[in-house]
Amino acid sequence: MKITVVGTGYVGLVTGTCFADVGIDVTCVDIDHEKIANLKKGVIPIYEPGLEEMVQSNIEKGRLHFSTNLKDTLEGAELVFSAVGTPPDEDGSADLQYVLNVAREVGKHMKDYLILITKSTVPVGTAKRVKAALQEELDKRGVSIPFDVASNPEFLKEGSAVQDFLKPDRIVVGTESKKARETVSRLYKPFTLNGHPVIFMDIASAEVTKYAANAMLATKISFMNDIANFCERVGADVNMVRNGIGSDSRIGNKFIYPGTGYGGSCFPKDVKAIIRTSRQHDYPLRVLQAVEDVNEDQKSILFHKLMDFYKGDIRGKKIGMWGLSFKPKTDDMREAPSLNLIEHLTKAGAKVIAFDPVAMDEAKRRVGNKISYAKDPYDALVDADALMLVTEWMDFRYPNFKVVKKLMKSPLLLDGRNIYDPEEMKKYGFYYHGIGIKGESPSQNI
Ligand SMILES: NC(=O)c1ccc[n+]([C@@H]2O[C@H](COP(=O)([O-])OP(=O)(O)OC[C@H]3O[C@@H](n4cnc5c(N)ncnc54)[C@H](O)[C@@H]3O)[C@@H](O)[C@H]2O)c1
Repeated sequence: MKITVVGTGYVGLVTGTCFADVGIDVTCVDIDHEKIANLKKGVIPIYEPGLEEMVQSNIEKGRLHFSTNLKDTLEGAELVFSAVGTPPDEDGSADLQYVLNVAREVGKHMKDYLILITKSTVPVGTAKRVKAALQEELDKRGVSIPFDVASNPEFLKEGSAVQDFLKPDRIVVGTESKKARETVSRLYKPFTLNGHPVIFMDIASAEVTKYAANAMLATKISFMNDIANFCERVGADVNMVRNGIGSDSRIGNKFIYPGTGYGGSCFPKDVKAIIRTSRQHDYPLRVLQAVEDVNEDQKSILFHKLMDFYKGDIRGKKIGMWGLSFKPKTDDMREAPSLNLIEHLTKAGAKVIAFDPVAMDEAKRRVGNKISYAKDPYDALVDADALMLVTEWMDFRYPNFKVVKKLMKSPLLLDGRNIYDPEEMKKYGFYYHGIGIKGESPSQNI
């Protein structure tokens, strides 16, 4: 079986590589020439555990190829996956230009029947536009070649993308075509042998499923952040509340950890996009508007805690920041809470010195010399007026707190992920503030 995957970002590269790994002949296409040149050498542009080794081994086995020329890859391809980006437009809706460009390119060059299957997260109704764009190109050429479109939204998580793809909770496929259904079933067979189901549905439902899944997860996070802020005000401890509710099987203990707000390439843009689509259909999704509002506020929660502690003046204060990526095990900083914090802190006159195990290069690309970069976690704390834990990398779980305290000028610990034990931190002599836990304040002015 031969397939093409268009777009070699987090989703496209993982998709193409995992299909190659089960023996399918895959060509991954991207318009970014530098990316493709590096990929041909087995060098991947992102940090994703296990992916680079898998790319290299499949290149060696001759099953994974890379190209900048979509046209050349179409011959003999039964399926073309479109996994290009769908960034937010100015009004929050998904920008579909890349998705539609792929459809047009396929229409310009295809010679035989194929299935164009959209893996990108796209608003309901997009498949119709993809179909029309492709057909328009065929019409311009004056040819009649049959094709099908399908929707196959992706649910992988950055940081465990390979495992998620190989062992999916489910595979959702929207299609109206029997032939497409059979081909997709054959393609996914190796991944479903262990009972991971393919759920077939109509295209509109598949498109909505992806947004509903992300919106539900974002809702859990914002709900818990809201409860955490409430707990702080009423003298409750959200960690205990979380344990108390998470043990209820109807609620579950996943995605109910309070923190500095959700970020990344998916939740923020997908929540915005579905809100936008809902307005277009005269049914504004009110719950999701609240989810977004809570999240916007939550991203600056550590900044406000710092301001409170220093009585509204942080000019010249040195803030050691641990963690820059939007979550552990990725270098992705799209919509990362760290960016929002850096903006607030530097505007208020503070100096930020940051450390992240893998996202330092990405941070340099995004914020340049707005902040300083530490060579290790401790280096970020020399003479610091506060430590802000923003991303809960394993590297930050068990630091030597005696060293941490000794290095810092003022022992203020702002734990944006509640990974430290408040009582223990108190014993070390820190002023500890987590999320949803009553914090320690200095008895004298610092
Ligand atoms: N990142 C995730 O964790 C994740 C998870 C599930 C779904 N998604 C969705 O998958 C889609 C892709 O996300 P991503 O994070 O992989 O994006 P990305 O920005 O990392 O990668 C997109 C790639 O597409 C390429 N591209 C753009 N136009 C092209 C064209 N015409 N031809 C060939 N290549 C082209 C870009 O150069 C880029 O390399 C988005 O819709 C996203 O919402 C992402």
